[in-house]
Amino acid sequence: MSSDKDIQTTPRGFRCALCNVNLPNLASVDQHVKGRKHQTLSTVRTTRKTQEERSVFVSGITPEVSQSDLAEHFQQFGSVSDVIMDKDKGVFAIVQFAETGSIQAALSCVQHQLKGLKLRVKPREKKDFKLIPKMKDDFQNLQQLLDSLAPQLCQLGSVDAQMQYVVERFQLGENEKKARSLLVQLLQEVFVEFFPDSQILPFGSSVNSFGIHSCDLDLFLDLENTKVFQARARTASEQAVEGGASDDGRSEDSILSDIDLSAASPAEVLELVATILKRCVPSVHKVHVVSSARLPVVKFHHRELNLQGDITLNNRLAVRNTRFLQLCSGVEGRLRPLVYTVRYWAKQKQLAGNPSGAGPLLNNYALTLLIIFYLQNCEPPVLLTVEQLKDLACEEEECEIEGWNCTFPTQPIAVPPSRNSQDLCSLLAGFFSFYAKFDFASGVISPRLGRVLPVTSFLSPAREDEAAQEDRPPRPRLGPLNLLDPFELSHNVAGNLNERSHRAFQRECRDAEKYCRSLQYQRKSTRGKAWGLVRLFTPHGDAAAPQAERPCVHVPFSPAALPDALREQLHRAGDGFRLLWFHKVCSAAERVLSGVLGCELASTSYSAAGAALSQEDPEAMEEPEPAESDASPQGSPVAGAKRPPPPDGDSSDSPRGKKPRLARRRKSDSPLWLCRLRHAVWAGRRKARRELTKDADAAAGPESGCLQLEARVTAHIAAREPELKEPLEFRVRPQMLGETESSRAAFWLEPSSDRSGLFQDFFHFLEAFLPKTVERLLEEEGGAS
Ligand code: UTP
Repeated sequence: MSSDKDIQTTPRGFRCALCNVNLPNLASVDQHVKGRKHQTLSTVRTTRKTQEERSVFVSGITPEVSQSDLAEHFQQFGSVSDVIMDKDKGVFAIVQFAETGSIQAALSCVQHQLKGLKLRVKPREKKDFKLIPKMKDDFQNLQQLLDSLAPQLCQLGSVDAQMQYVVERFQLGENEKKARSLLVQLLQEVFVEFFPDSQILPFGSSVNSFGIHSCDLDLFLDLENTKVFQARARTASEQAVEGGASDDGRSEDSILSDIDLSAASPAEVLELVATILKRCVPSVHKVHVVSSARLPVVKFHHRELNLQGDITLNNRLAVRNTRFLQLCSGVEGRLRPLVYTVRYWAKQKQLAGNPSGAGPLLNNYALTLLIIFYLQNCEPPVLLTVEQLKDLACEEEECEIEGWNCTFPTQPIAVPPSRNSQDLCSLLAGFFSFYAKFDFASGVISPRLGRVLPVTSFLSPAREDEAAQEDRPPRPRLGPLNLLDPFELSHNVAGNLNERSHRAFQRECRDAEKYCRSLQYQRKSTRGKAWGLVRLFTPHGDAAAPQAERPCVHVPFSPAALPDALREQLHRAGDGFRLLWFHKVCSAAERVLSGVLGCELASTSYSAAGAALSQEDPEAMEEPEPAESDASPQGSPVAGAKRPPPPDGDSSDSPRGKKPRLARRRKSDSPLWLCRLRHAVWAGRRKARRELTKDADAAAGPESGCLQLEARVTAHIAAREPELKEPLEFRVRPQMLGETESSRAAFWLEPSSDRSGLFQDFFHFLEAFLPKTVERLLEEEGGAS
């Protein structure tokens, strides 16, 4: 285990208090502690601490006192490395020395006098360094908003009305838009002073018609004209020097005289932008440059507006695609309710909204493009493809940016209305169904063409003649979800997704699709229960919602790995072969848990009768819903029960007219094991095994199989290590899943008492250990019944 003091134990695993992340097991703790985020934050914390130790807090100043006045005054106590002033009110400052020793000299001075003022000098307050997880705060705010939103949503008469209501509640208000536009104006005025002829242009959610309260303010600082200005000024100044005349007055004293924009790197320019923001824009604080992003950015926070801002350079394409989104929303009134609803759903399900902007989840732009692509593929289409829009544009609207064709009409009126008349409720259900079934692996989504392109056409190696062309567009970075930008065709806007987040997206689409087929989605509950969007929005962690990944160990049916004798038995069992195999696997698993790992099996043993019932029931082939919170094992849902009981009791007429399975089952049908482990038999197993095999190869004897060895490893650990303070108690429910090729035995696990917080570790160990050991046991027994 990592000795890092930031790691705390929690009931579900571990938590890094520095980075605010939960970690399931020790392996991920180790990985996290060595990772970039943790290392960077540790370094920042150390730097801050050092700065704190070398600086003093100075009050009693007035706005007339400048940074250099303070630096000059404190220089007498030691070399001053920085002076940070409260620029809004100008009443306090932090003076940082190069050496810790200078602090004492400054503090011991009885009277600090400057410009007739008596300054008060104190040691700096020591603050705990904490990462403020901004996105999480937003998420929590949104959750609170849902709590207050749910009653109103439930009272509305239709899903369409609910979706319109979501827009009303979340959209940026007129005053918010006005405040943002005033800030943009102010920034424009400031920047133009330093970068003549520059332009600051908003893009993204603040202006694309999909913004929500507190969304970021994305800005593009366009310095193209400034570069032209700078080049002109330079020539004029050279000529003036030659001719003995004065140069263009505008460049005098300009910050520009220090930097040649056409030669400077984006990071250098952004540093300059950051300095201007820090020094010259009131209420702006927490300014920092992130140069590692795909597009380097200066981040800032506006205190009065409580607004996060991002300034990028070279982002003309983003301004253009923002116009495109505005156009789509102007052409098709159903787009906004769909986007707001899907974005909120994705946020609740933790599919979108990467903390601090980077991460493996979908970003809002990608999510919006997925909706647009779906609407292009409805029958008849709700939206035209980008290629079709291009053909509707007139000559003046032609636009090319960085070599990409970005032409589309400026006015929505130029685009003919859709013939599709579906309501919002069915379009939303259609979205989930479209992506629930989508074959992401084989295609690349192109909103430009409105169709899927075969992934193979992006896989072929670059031809030699192509490779020779330096300016040939790069290929998109392919991943589990490939979604091309409509204009920058070499950019996969979902290229940051990993397998896990992609799987989660599709799984959530499937769950949502299923839910949208129920009456609870379509029809208002007559009993005032949650219905429609409210249930769709229910976040994870709520008992009513399906859980993302309930711990489950799978033992696949792999005929090739079975011993001949067992294969023969299965062959003879005919149609019942799956049940027989499942029976064998369950009894082997039970022996692994008790005989090999030393679990006390405190309750029901596997019963073939229970399995038989499971098997006969076609619904038992599917993954069950998570167990209810009922502590009694007998009260838990039956294995194979497809859905939890209907929460408002009025759902017996599901869309497919089926009675909920739970009501028809006898609770005792469920095979269930209650297990208790007194030792952490998974920890240090490899070492224990090595020790045993090293000094007693012979003692075991050839007849002793590997399962006996594993049992001895367990005994060895138990003898050497103390008992767990609190035993780990958990329930295991075996279930037969899948049909022919994908048949497998699933062992659903659930901790009933895990005060030591070790369940996750044990589960990860068992995920690998159980299938392997069951296979060996079946092999060793040679199929003997
Ligand atoms: P976001 O994904 O942040 O979208 O991208 P958003 O609509 O502003 O949502 P918030 O900020 O999360 O509320 C912001 C803008 O950045 C550009 C697009 O213009 C998008 O609107 N962008 C983003 C790209 O051009 N390409 C990308 O891959 C991502």
